[in-house]
Amino acid sequence: MTGEEPKRTLVISTIENGTVIDHINPGEALIVLRILGITGSTRECVSVATNVTSKAHVKKDVVKIENRELKTKEVDRIALVAPDATINIIRDYRVIEKKGVIIPPVLMGVLKCPNPCCITNTNEPVMSRFEMQGKKAVCSYCDAVISSDISAHII
Ligand code: CTP
Ligand code: ZN
Repeated sequence: MTGEEPKRTLVISTIENGTVIDHINPGEALIVLRILGITGSTRECVSVATNVTSKAHVKKDVVKIENRELKTKEVDRIALVAPDATINIIRDYRVIEKKGVIIPPVLMGVLKCPNPCCITNTNEPVMSRFEMQGKKAVCSYCDAVISSDISAHII
C-alpha cells in the first residue's frame, strides 16, 4: 500500500483521423449513434463516453468516429438532439475544423409526421417537410406540431 489516491481520470483515446462530436447533452450519445446508423453490426471504430465531466464541470456525452466525416443531413439531425454539440474534424491527430450545429429552419425528409393521415405517411412519393417555429416543428402539409421529444420523430 502506497497510500496514493487512485487516479480518477477517464481518458478516451484521441483519434488520428475522423470526427469527434463533443458537448452532446448527457445521455443523448446513443441517439446520436442511431442517427449515424451505428449499430452493433457496423464495422466502424467508434468510442462513446456518456456522462463525463467537461472542462466547464458540466456533464456531457462524446462520440468519436474514426475515418468518417458527417454529411449535412446527419449534422442537421444531430442538431435536433444535441443543439450544443461541437463537430470536430480530426486529421493527423489535429483538430482541423471545429463547428457548432444549427437546426435548419426547414427540415426535408428528417422528421416523420405524427399524423397518420398526413400525405407524407401515405404511399404518395412526398418527402416530409417541417418548418421550425421556435422549439416546435410544424408539418408543412397538415400543420401537425411536434413540440416535445423531437428525437423520437427523427427518420
Ligand atoms: N480530440 C480527439 N482526437 C484528437 C484531437 C481531439 O479525440 N486527435 C477530441 C478531444 O478529446 C475533444 C475534442 O476532440 O473532445 C475537441 O478537441 P479540442 O478542440 O482540442 O478540445 P477543447 O479545446 O476542449 O474543445 P472545446 O473548446 O470545443 O471544448
Ligand atoms: Zn403532416
